[in-house]
Amino acid sequence: MAARIIDGKSIAADVRRALGPRVAALAARGVRPGLAVIRVGDDPASRVYVRNKERACEQTGIASRHIALPARVDEAELLGTIHQLNADAAVHGILVQLPLPHHLDPGRVVEAIAPHKDADGFHPMNTGALLVGRTGFLPCTPAGIMVMLDRSGIELRGKRAVVVGRSNIVGKPMALLLLQRDATVTICHSKTRDLPALTREADVLVAALGRARAISAAMVKPGACVIDVGINRLEDGSLAGDVDTTAVRDVAGWITPVPGGVGPMTVAMLLANCVRAAELAAASASSDPD
Ligand code: GUN
Repeated sequence: MAARIIDGKSIAADVRRALGPRVAALAARGVRPGLAVIRVGDDPASRVYVRNKERACEQTGIASRHIALPARVDEAELLGTIHQLNADAAVHGILVQLPLPHHLDPGRVVEAIAPHKDADGFHPMNTGALLVGRTGFLPCTPAGIMVMLDRSGIELRGKRAVVVGRSNIVGKPMALLLLQRDATVTICHSKTRDLPALTREADVLVAALGRARAISAAMVKPGACVIDVGINRLEDGSLAGDVDTTAVRDVAGWITPVPGGVGPMTVAMLLANCVRAAELAAASASSDPD
């Protein structure tokens, strides 16, 4: 039987609709959530992602500010821009689009963002909070995947979850979120031996390795839930995920499409983080004795 499709576009639309009343409540208090997006250089994929994020902000009532810096910008200037945004009360969320040109250290850049404005949830204060089970800002892609799993009624407790990919922005936080929900989690990566033997054990398989169609049908347990994080541009210009969807659809129980799966969820969770940052700022401003 063909796998059920987890429709990320539709779930993301629900998440975004639910933000409407929260944005209206902020507006009633004279607050408009604001997101600053910094893009360095001219990476064509980053341009598209940033444009999508800005459009989504407009549709949600979030003010977006796009700061485009030249590829050769020096680190001090970039950090200075972030410090200015940290101090700007109209900006509740700050995001630096990755990847950055090689001369810039992404760790230092992310750490310059005030943790309470970290709309991406990449700052070590927020990833550390996730590690110890406190509430910080969650990284958008893994947080969005958890919403997709929950909305699809997929039980996690005691299940085998396998995450392929160990990046700081997807693989590692994804594993922590699954662990928090009592799944038994394995993280696989480029040095993993006999990857298919491990992926075949997964009740929930998250593919975030960044290689087109790398997960074949033979690597998937029948009935498994397969989450495809990949967005790979093929030579003919078309998009492919990290999963060979056409073949895996006949084996899996659930599958996310590319496009229209994880991608729209990432954007929806970014908006949610931004609205939450504005709510927290408004609450702390109203309890401020000054
Ligand atoms: N590059 C790829 N995905 C992301 C993301 O979620 N946030 C940022 N800032 N850069 C990215």
